[in-house]
Amino acid sequence: MKLAAKLEDLTKHYVLKSETVRALRGVSFDIPEGDYVAIMGPSGSGKSTLLNLLGCLDRPTSGAMYLGDANVATMNDNQLSYTRATRIGFVFQSYNLIQQLTVVENIEVPLYYQGRLNKRDRARCLELAEMVGLQDRLSHRPAQLSGGQQQRVAIARSLVNDPYFILADEPTGNLDTATADEILRLFENLNQLGKTIIMVTHEDEVSRHAKRIIRLRDGLIQTDERKENRTVLN
Ligand SMILES: Nc1ncnc2c1ncn2[C@@H]1O[C@H](COP(=O)(O)OP(=O)(O)O)[C@@H](O)[C@H]1O
Ligand SMILES: [Mg+2]
Repeated sequence: MKLAAKLEDLTKHYVLKSETVRALRGVSFDIPEGDYVAIMGPSGSGKSTLLNLLGCLDRPTSGAMYLGDANVATMNDNQLSYTRATRIGFVFQSYNLIQQLTVVENIEVPLYYQGRLNKRDRARCLELAEMVGLQDRLSHRPAQLSGGQQQRVAIARSLVNDPYFILADEPTGNLDTATADEILRLFENLNQLGKTIIMVTHEDEVSRHAKRIIRLRDGLIQTDERKENRTVLN
């Protein structure tokens, strides 16, 4: 099976004046294409650190992380930025849209980093807007949209580069329950279409939608379970 990512004995140490914080102490797992993973764990367990590594925002202290055939651990800063801008789809709790741009322009943003925006790209952005249910809001600006609609824009934007995976950091954290459910349903639909999703959440309600839950504790994987293997109580 093709892998979206492969992590081998990944560590991340933060060296401070008086101590070294071992935020990740040897983490290994594969993410097959089409997976839908929730990363959970108590505060300080290393979730953000792992997310930063997966998102190519930072390099590990040791170990390897493969995206496709490329080992991110050995990339220089330019390669890392390029990979981040062109091959990772970010979805944040706070949407991070550009207020001056319309819905469709926000979706186009990642393509500017590749210095291209041809007719086919524009058509693709319209398709993505439609896929997330925003075909009637193409010329709206973020302030004219609800939180759920803004998150849909962010999700469409995350897909425009055909990323290895969508990396979602508490994507429903700012939404009411009903809207959060809609966004989680959208993720499930996208996953059924083959999109790989990695989501950090502290809510069991949210992680339940994923196919697999990885729990971190003190910088190590505590459990890594797939839904079909989990014992169903009641
Ligand atoms: N930039 C940093 N410098 C020093 N220590 C850090 C830094 N970022 C995180 N840490 C430490 O690394 C550990 C893991 O943090 P983090 O990855 O943010 O965990 P989580 O997101 O699960 O709360 C914590 O002990 C935290 O204090
Ligand atoms: Mg965190």
